[in-house]
Amino acid sequence: MSVTVPSVKLYNGKSFPVIGLGTAQCKGDDLRKAVSAALECGYRHFDTAAFYQNEDEIGDVLRHWITTGRVSRDELFITTKLPPYGNRASDVEKCLSQSLKKLKVDYVDLYLIHAPFSAILEGEDDVKGRILDFSTDLEAVYKAMEQQVDAGKARGIGLSNFNSKQIERIMKVCRIKPVNLQVEVHAYHQQKPLRSLCRQFDIPVCAYCPLGAPYLNRGDCEKYPRLIEHPVVTSMALRLNKTPAQILLRHLIQLGLIVIPKSSNPERIKENFQVWDFKLPPSDMADLDALDRAGDGRIITFQLRPGIQVHPEYPFNIPF
Ligand SMILES: NC(=O)c1ccc[n+]([C@@H]2O[C@H](COP(=O)([O-])OP(=O)(O)OC[C@H]3O[C@@H](n4cnc5c(N)ncnc54)[C@H](OP(=O)(O)O)[C@@H]3O)[C@@H](O)[C@H]2O)c1
Repeated sequence: MSVTVPSVKLYNGKSFPVIGLGTAQCKGDDLRKAVSAALECGYRHFDTAAFYQNEDEIGDVLRHWITTGRVSRDELFITTKLPPYGNRASDVEKCLSQSLKKLKVDYVDLYLIHAPFSAILEGEDDVKGRILDFSTDLEAVYKAMEQQVDAGKARGIGLSNFNSKQIERIMKVCRIKPVNLQVEVHAYHQQKPLRSLCRQFDIPVCAYCPLGAPYLNRGDCEKYPRLIEHPVVTSMALRLNKTPAQILLRHLIQLGLIVIPKSSNPERIKENFQVWDFKLPPSDMADLDALDRAGDGRIITFQLRPGIQVHPEYPFNIPF
């Protein structure tokens, strides 16, 4: 049965469904099946990125649903992202055109700068761009993003993994305001100061890794059990007859966040979407709020890129 999901009304008039399907690290038939399963149960918001190398598969399924009349393009909210290897004003148009071609659509609803630092591709075999480019000019990149809205290729543009100072810089120069900030948010890393800044600028925040990315081993299991196995979360789930994932998603939604849990398992895709028939009372919200470990709870740090911390635009060298 299909469900109408609450959405955030963006200042550009678009409705941004508060739950979407995350798709990182999912490809091929697994992804095709996941996107179909998500559409079947009512997801209309899909989050991808050029960096994930999976836009083609998502585009295949969405196109099929559109051409067979099961969904209209207008009902969908598609987000993709400018990869770090395209973080140059001169590359933005080319990167977005490549994404549109793979997604098989004329426009995306949201085009995000994936990360504030830039990288360089080393030849044709390099698809990720792990070598850093230290000459990033974020303001110039953002201006090129604005041109994509003018050209009708993106309905809205936004930022991902930007810190408070970088957001303030963009707010000073922008002609078209960012409609979204996508950053890591989950119960261990609640981003309270950054969310407060975004409230001042009236920029909705989308939480990535909303389940605490259980596939990533935090390495210190006693101090940091996997979030979906934390006793506060599991006991709450038992008491409310919900699953730990539903508790974690509901917590973020009640904080006013947009969430994009990833799953390639149709049962879990459905489970993650069934968060509309209950509300966490203030005492449970307080218990989940208390799990926050601020900066210590961050999982994604981009450390796989050697030298990242000395990049002038590395976002995590300041508290938020
Ligand atoms: N902007 C960025 O830099 C950035 C960075 C990271 C992520 N993202 C976006 O955010 C999305 C979500 O983040 P994420 O994938 O890193 O982490 P996540 O959504 O917190 O966790 C995904 C993991 O949780 C498992 N899972 C999903 N539903 C579950 C459930 N109900 N019960 C138990 N386990 C469950 C999934 O496994 P199964 O697939 O086996 O179910 C998968 O391993 C990404 O897919 C991507 O779209 C953006």
